[in-house]
Amino acid sequence: MTPSRNLPIGIFDSGIGGLTVVRELRKVLPHEDLVYLGDTARVPYGTKSPSTVTRFAVEDTAFLVQQNVKAVVVACNTASAWALPTLESRFKVPIFGVIHPGVEAALEQSRQLRIGVIGTAATIRSRAYETALLARQDKVKVFTRACPLLVPLVEEGWMNHAVTRTVLEEYRAPLLRKKIDCLVLGCTHYPLLTTALRKLTGPGVHLVDSAESCARHVRRQLETSGLLHPHNSRKGTILSYVTDETGRFSALATRFLGAPVQQAWRVDLPTVAP
Ligand code: DGL
Repeated sequence: MTPSRNLPIGIFDSGIGGLTVVRELRKVLPHEDLVYLGDTARVPYGTKSPSTVTRFAVEDTAFLVQQNVKAVVVACNTASAWALPTLESRFKVPIFGVIHPGVEAALEQSRQLRIGVIGTAATIRSRAYETALLARQDKVKVFTRACPLLVPLVEEGWMNHAVTRTVLEEYRAPLLRKKIDCLVLGCTHYPLLTTALRKLTGPGVHLVDSAESCARHVRRQLETSGLLHPHNSRKGTILSYVTDETGRFSALATRFLGAPVQQAWRVDLPTVAP
């Protein structure tokens, strides 16, 4: 059965970073109601094993489905990298991840087909971007790099800090030596580092923001399946849930969303049989 077009879109992430995807969704789908879940009690996912990330992602999705959403967006790159096939097979609602749209955007932008991908340790270990890029274009050369220090630096608000520039330089140098012409920012937090990264990579490297490409993809898919909200003069709402106390989430949310969030609610997630 097709879900009603009036229902909200659910979005989940390991914590707060997925608000960068919410921000992009707001731009391209301003009339939609959004329900956001940040699994702040169990963040980070990027250091965890595939089976743990998949179990968490199933519980996150089950919670959103309980909220009666018409689609689920897996904003977390790590969860998209490991859990998407499981989520697609276990749930009936349309599920959208960030990897496939990021890959499409990278292939559109790269002329030399030399593409760099940065992400959490778990995302890079999954080889999800590499596999998806090569499945679409067998001539592409993919160079990946796990950047585990970037998430805490962004959460600390050190986007323009000298320490962050040093860390970025360290991560960037081996990729630029490979002469990449496109770099996929494969993590929820990295869009906040776009300015710093652009200075380091220069104009010759196109940056692909996986949050932005995901939002455009979701819009296209909802349009194709007739699931866009029917009232396009209304302003959509955002309802936020977190699994740990709300204080830190609310304090950091403005930076990721680009606007203050309304109150967030603390919830317990359903336990789902493996
Ligand atoms: N949201 C995660 C991602 O995009 C980053 C934070 C974490 O490690 O949980 O991969």
